[in-house]
Amino acid sequence: MESMKRTNTCGELRKADAGKRVVLNGWVHRKRDHGGISFISLRDRYGITQVVVDCEQNSHLAALSAELRNEFCIAVEGSVRERPGSMANGEMITGEIEVAADRIAILNRSLVLPFQIDAEGSGESEAKEELRLKYRYLDLRSSGMQRRIRLRNEAAFAVREWLVKQGFYEIETPTFIRSTPEGARDYLVPSRLYPGKFYALPQSPQLYKQILMTAGFDKYFQIARCYRDEDARGDRQPEFTQIDIEMSFVGREDILAMTEGLMGYVFKKTIGVELPARFTRLSYEDAMERYGSDKPDLRFGLELRDFSPYVAASGFQAFKDALSRGEAEKNAAAAKGITVPGGAVKAIVIPAAAMGGASYSRKQIEELEAHAKIYRAKGLAWMKAGGTGDAPLFEGGVSKFFQEQAGRICGELGAKSGDLILIVADSSGKTANTALGAVRSKLGKDLKLTESPDGGRRFEFAWIVDFPLFEFNEDENRWEAAHHMFSYPQEQYHATLEKDPGAVKGDLYDLVLNGYELASGSIRIHNPELQNRIFGIVGIPPEEAEAKFGFLTEAFKYGAPPHGGIAPGFDRLVMLMAGETSIKEVIAFPKDSFAKSPMDDCPSEVDAKQLNELHLSVIYPEQKK
Ligand code: AMO
Ligand code: AMP
Repeated sequence: MESMKRTNTCGELRKADAGKRVVLNGWVHRKRDHGGISFISLRDRYGITQVVVDCEQNSHLAALSAELRNEFCIAVEGSVRERPGSMANGEMITGEIEVAADRIAILNRSLVLPFQIDAEGSGESEAKEELRLKYRYLDLRSSGMQRRIRLRNEAAFAVREWLVKQGFYEIETPTFIRSTPEGARDYLVPSRLYPGKFYALPQSPQLYKQILMTAGFDKYFQIARCYRDEDARGDRQPEFTQIDIEMSFVGREDILAMTEGLMGYVFKKTIGVELPARFTRLSYEDAMERYGSDKPDLRFGLELRDFSPYVAASGFQAFKDALSRGEAEKNAAAAKGITVPGGAVKAIVIPAAAMGGASYSRKQIEELEAHAKIYRAKGLAWMKAGGTGDAPLFEGGVSKFFQEQAGRICGELGAKSGDLILIVADSSGKTANTALGAVRSKLGKDLKLTESPDGGRRFEFAWIVDFPLFEFNEDENRWEAAHHMFSYPQEQYHATLEKDPGAVKGDLYDLVLNGYELASGSIRIHNPELQNRIFGIVGIPPEEAEAKFGFLTEAFKYGAPPHGGIAPGFDRLVMLMAGETSIKEVIAFPKDSFAKSPMDDCPSEVDAKQLNELHLSVIYPEQKK
């Protein structure tokens, strides 16, 4: 084999190399036989080179070549020759040349493949995905996966390069930590040495990075693995990666500007896209009112409009009821000192042009209604604008209730003949906004409004700021942290935190890109008393707070500096740069949608001996009943 060690890669040879003797190593990508001559496309990480085998000249080579099948790993020795002009392949980087083989060695054979390597994998059926994950080493050979893993590597390098240049230290934090009550469920690791005790895998390095600030490392980052036991989705994995960042002696503006700088560098360096120096900002309230989402896709408009001014004068009882019930709920909550937003009636106007001139059929509207109902809407009312500019009128759906106000409504909402109006009313303004926001997102996809007119890719970043600090958990009848318990309540609410938690806004911010939450962060609490008040509001009694977070509040007593940070999801970042809709496409070995790994078949059972050592016994669900 020593003599068959490669001299060049399969992506390297050009016209200037004609005449050289070379050895290439790689995989048989395709093989074509043309009476006496075989063409082998030889592939490695760097590209594909055409190898020509003259079977008539050399019967030994002919026999070897006949044996070759796709994905055999081989070595080829031969001479480089320029392809005649008409045979050159402009689409291949090595298309000007070919290698005339005079020696071939089979380094390893391959079984018949479960799927063709270059069927570029994305958005395929579930069955296909299981197969792709089971044979991930083959799937990873595809040009798409090769390209995306390369992009991931380049993005990670750019992130490190920029942050280190800005004076950040990359510091590792432990992955065996104390279990603390945070957002998702923890993955636990049983302790052999301490029966009945467990480590937890970190959901994020949150507490450690705050302690690093206390320790004086005022600019920290880490490309950190995080673990959360929650249901997998397209943009969620049980184990994923964050670009975790924390800084001392900073305010919100510093963190936002730093993140803009980082994103700008990474996009420019890895995919050549120039981002604006500053990203759009929206308050949480505006995002909800205008887009019905705290992660709006700003690649298209279709904003939510207030339809409530037209309800009183209409005869439509469903809308009137929604508003009056909303008012009653708001007053009842106010009597208990709780702030809730009340009801709302919101509308979207779909311009005729966006629907391609044609209008939505009743069946399509029913589909949209079903979608709205997933988000707890009671219905999706609709009507079409018709008539003329001077004399507008409504047709279909709920038009009869609003006919008298047609002129005013069309004027104020900017609806023209042929446009479709969709309306959701609810006693909870949040439900009305969220449900119509979900319809908006679906319309964006269905009507391809996310695509750029020139077919180019678009990246619409936005900061969402001024989030509420607390959310009321109806099921458990208690307040909980909207982000996490360590975020700083904005100064003006400090006096009234306990009295009206629902009104408190936090120094929280999310970075949103094309409808995805890309990053989340906040300015933190660095004062132990304030931290304890927050624990109190989310219902963690002082003894429990002491037991679970004592190390943090204790650390804060030793001159903790003011600090804040952010954590962009690295998988989501690479996914969006790659134009994909699932983070599995940018992770070498992801779990499937059921948190399993089909390749190595984990999670798996373990020996009784291992369980014994860990002082564990398993109670299966059927035994539990
Ligand atoms: P948060 O929980 O919002 O904040 O997470 C930050 C970012 O991490 C990504 N992310 C995920 N990516 C893939 N799979 C998941 N299951 C998953 N969960 C989250 C998202 C998200 O925006 N410690 C805080 C950050 C801080 O306050 O500094 C935190 O973890 O892109
Ligand atoms: P109904 O009067 O209940 O038959 O409803 C007439 C239309 O209004 C149907 O298309 C319903 O989907 C719609 N509708 C009913 N309630 C609501 C609501 N709260 N918000 C939006 N549309 C509604």
